Amino acid sequence: MSAKEQWATRVGLVLAMAGNAVGLGNFLRFPAQAAQNGGGTFLIPYLISFALMGIPLLWVEWAIGRHGGIYGHHSTPGMFHVMGDKGWLKYIGVFGIFTNLTIAAYYCYIESWTLSYVFHSLIGTFAQTEPKVFFPNYLGETADSLFAFPLEAGCWFLLTLALNIWILSKGLAKGIEMAAKIGMPLLVIFAAVLVVRGLMLDAGDPGVVQSPLDGLNFVWNPKLEGLTQPTTWLAAAGQIFFTLSLGMGAIHCYASYVSKRSDIALNAASAGWMNEFVEVVLGGSLLIPIATAYMGLAAVQSATAGGGGFSLGFLSLPTLFNNWGWFAPIAGALWFGLLFFAGITSSLAMGQPIMAYFQDEHQMNRRNSALIFGASTMILGLFCVWLYPGGAFDEFDFWSGTFSLVIFALLEVFIFSYVFGIDKGWKEITRGADIHVPRIFRFIIKYVTPVFILVVFIGALIQPAEGNWAQAFRSLFSGDGWPLAANSVIGKLFHVGVDSAWFTPEGRGTKVLVQDMTRLLLFSLFAGIAVMVYFDFRKKGGSR
Ligand code: PHE
Repeated sequence: MSAKEQWATRVGLVLAMAGNAVGLGNFLRFPAQAAQNGGGTFLIPYLISFALMGIPLLWVEWAIGRHGGIYGHHSTPGMFHVMGDKGWLKYIGVFGIFTNLTIAAYYCYIESWTLSYVFHSLIGTFAQTEPKVFFPNYLGETADSLFAFPLEAGCWFLLTLALNIWILSKGLAKGIEMAAKIGMPLLVIFAAVLVVRGLMLDAGDPGVVQSPLDGLNFVWNPKLEGLTQPTTWLAAAGQIFFTLSLGMGAIHCYASYVSKRSDIALNAASAGWMNEFVEVVLGGSLLIPIATAYMGLAAVQSATAGGGGFSLGFLSLPTLFNNWGWFAPIAGALWFGLLFFAGITSSLAMGQPIMAYFQDEHQMNRRNSALIFGASTMILGLFCVWLYPGGAFDEFDFWSGTFSLVIFALLEVFIFSYVFGIDKGWKEITRGADIHVPRIFRFIIKYVTPVFILVVFIGALIQPAEGNWAQAFRSLFSGDGWPLAANSVIGKLFHVGVDSAWFTPEGRGTKVLVQDMTRLLLFSLFAGIAVMVYFDFRKKGGSR
């Protein structure tokens, strides 16, 4: 039974948690976010978000998780159910199932690209075919179609899912913990080799147009301007959420296998800092500096503005590696290999909460619950694969990977302090602690973090056009209304700035149709999970 499962070693637990956090977000999303938001300008809001929101939320989530585990609950509906006697609490936990499942769907797809790219690097595909040509072909994008049916990409996707299911079905210690113990050190070694090789590039080398150190400087040199730009704050806080796996239910789940009197305070902090090291030090020293050396800083910035980290990571980097002669295929394998390890140790963390739900609430065994996770991820994932050109993938990423985690985090931090109670909460965090948790964090968790998230949330809802808040307020007060940005939450919801017709005059479906159908799917899924929780908990009544 799942209730008996435990981490084998403390090192394993911390590595698994670090593996949970360290993911594609560290190597693709972070550099792209930093570059889009002015490099060093991004860094200060990012570090402040880590201190005021990241660290406190880590403690809160570990505490909720370990507390739930004591009552035999390893997924969020049950954990929230035992945090008070209110019947609605368990429905908050629906987020922790929904978010993991829907992120897994598109995340495993990216993960499968990395695996396939290891293979293609090694067999020398990128020496013959331009990645710029290869990538859209691989994804099955054709001009003007909303659909793609890529055979090869589909097979790699299924293979990646199978690998995940196989590891998950081996259990916590023999599966997840083992994968982290192998994957994490290899990832760090691969990254270190590439960082050293990349930073050694200099003006004399063929193809080099600028020093890679300029790229490093751009990311790392803190500039104070960011402090006064709400848009930069939004991006920074969003990155802290995603990279630390906060507001997802993934940390809760891993923490629920920690025993009642073991430390969580130090473990949470260690895993969190490990993630930051990998993100800022390693993640910040790879993509941007290497790309800067060959493309120049200006081109790097404009590349990240369009395709995020994907275009640099999957198009530019394999091309640039070709300058490295015999080392090119190896460099490609190291880069995509490290992305794969980062990815799989994260997707396992998305799977375990789903499995735990079925193990706890349906007495299902490990293998069957892993298969359920695999099958549902496959169905949702194929939706993303086939409707990739129509934008389904981006919808998943926005509503699950950017939006719903903020709502969940906001709700949980309120519940923790005001329903569960900060006194009990603080005891949960500090019981068995191997460090002295500064008392100031009690205050931060109760007052600062919730307000911080609330401000971020409202900012995301109503973000004004071009991120220009001063201008927006002027417009509001002069009676011209609030100029909503197309990428604000409300702007997206109502398709601000785009023609919102579902069909073209010729009767062909539009991207808006795909977007709205994807939203309907996501919403129905959320509602479906809530109904399942209703039925599964009916028999439990109000008792714990
Ligand atoms: N934190 C992971 C990353 O940086 C993503 C993740 C999301 C992991 C959800 C677990 C759960 O890529």
